[in-house]
Amino acid sequence: MSSQTVFRLNLGTGLEGLQAFKETIPIPSKDEILIKIRSVALNYRDVAIATSSYPLPVKDNVILCSDMAGEVIQIGDHVKEFAIGDRVIAPINVSFLYGQCRDHSQTFGGQTDGMLREYIALPAHAIIKLPKSAHSFEDWAAVIGTGSTVWNAFYGNTLLKPGDTVLVLGTGGVSITALIFAKAAGATVIVTSSSDTKLEYVKSKFGADYTINYKTHPNWSAEVLRITNGDGVNHIIENGGAGTMQQSLESVTAGGMISIIGFLSNVSQDEMPDVTMLALKKACVVRGILGGSKQQLEEAVKVMATRDLSIPVYKTFAFTREDIIAGLNYVASGQHIGKVCIKLD
Ligand SMILES: NC(=O)c1ccc[n+]([C@@H]2O[C@H](COP(=O)([O-])OP(=O)(O)OC[C@H]3O[C@@H](n4cnc5c(N)ncnc54)[C@H](OP(=O)(O)O)[C@@H]3O)[C@@H](O)[C@H]2O)c1
Repeated sequence: MSSQTVFRLNLGTGLEGLQAFKETIPIPSKDEILIKIRSVALNYRDVAIATSSYPLPVKDNVILCSDMAGEVIQIGDHVKEFAIGDRVIAPINVSFLYGQCRDHSQTFGGQTDGMLREYIALPAHAIIKLPKSAHSFEDWAAVIGTGSTVWNAFYGNTLLKPGDTVLVLGTGGVSITALIFAKAAGATVIVTSSSDTKLEYVKSKFGADYTINYKTHPNWSAEVLRITNGDGVNHIIENGGAGTMQQSLESVTAGGMISIIGFLSNVSQDEMPDVTMLALKKACVVRGILGGSKQQLEEAVKVMATRDLSIPVYKTFAFTREDIIAGLNYVASGQHIGKVCIKLD
């Protein structure tokens, strides 16, 4: 066996531009390990890249997706810390090991080939060996992009503390991961969604403390202030971007933190609030987040293993072109709560 199936994206042709190719299975160099990929988690980013709405550069014919879990099947001569059969994950970018992301061109599935393939050779120093636990490959794939990003938001600057109040916008991968990690840290969590059914689900299943439907409460920051007795929240997982920033700035407490993560609700620059004046009045931190490092992902993996936490995988699709496109369309439709994965047999 020397060839594998990979899925590359012909840019500018939408999800239908995803095509299967037969390519050579790489041979690991002395410092690399060869990984057989067992699960790939999808992200909204993959949909945005395929539909040409991603704000950062992307190369044509990129192998899509950034998040995979798999097992080691071959080891370079200089690699001592891995054994055949080890279960592993990679961070979203092998140059982003700690600190801040300085070179996003190396983030998988954008300008660097990603994970929609059967095998990948990667530098051993960047790889995380997974702890022994009952988690499946899907469970581990599901924590990579969103888990490291949320960890960066909560612990990369002003630290989240027990007793803090966290506001998460929406019920997708980033939001549910934030809900689970914030509850594990002893925070009170408010979740917003366009759907009452989803809100009931996140309350009963994942222990959201308060919920707000942002469709029936378009002025949802008033609800946040009502729930927090006028104080506002300590930490906001900002998934909307330009279109939700005004209300996030109204929802944050004095000195609180807004982690700018998503760009799901775009408005033109003329409709943008005066962020400088609003942030000044709240003395708050408005912090852009660009993924999370290997170190942050390792900390997220540790809490999953020691506290037996899982990021919910709502639906799983097969490793065929038809199914992968159906999976990306499913993510684009926003029906899911948490993550969507591709399973490789
Ligand atoms: N900066 C980074 O490093 C980074 C890392 C990961 C993701 N992201 C970005 O973060 C965003 C979320 O990613 P994801 O993978 O979690 O996406 P996802 O799984 O597709 O979740 C999207 C969810 O966001 C909610 N939503 C949409 N518009 C909203 C609005 N106006 N207000 C509040 N919620 C809204 C919806 O929840 P309901 O259905 O409940 O309404 C939707 O289901 C995307 O823009 C993604 O590109 C950025």
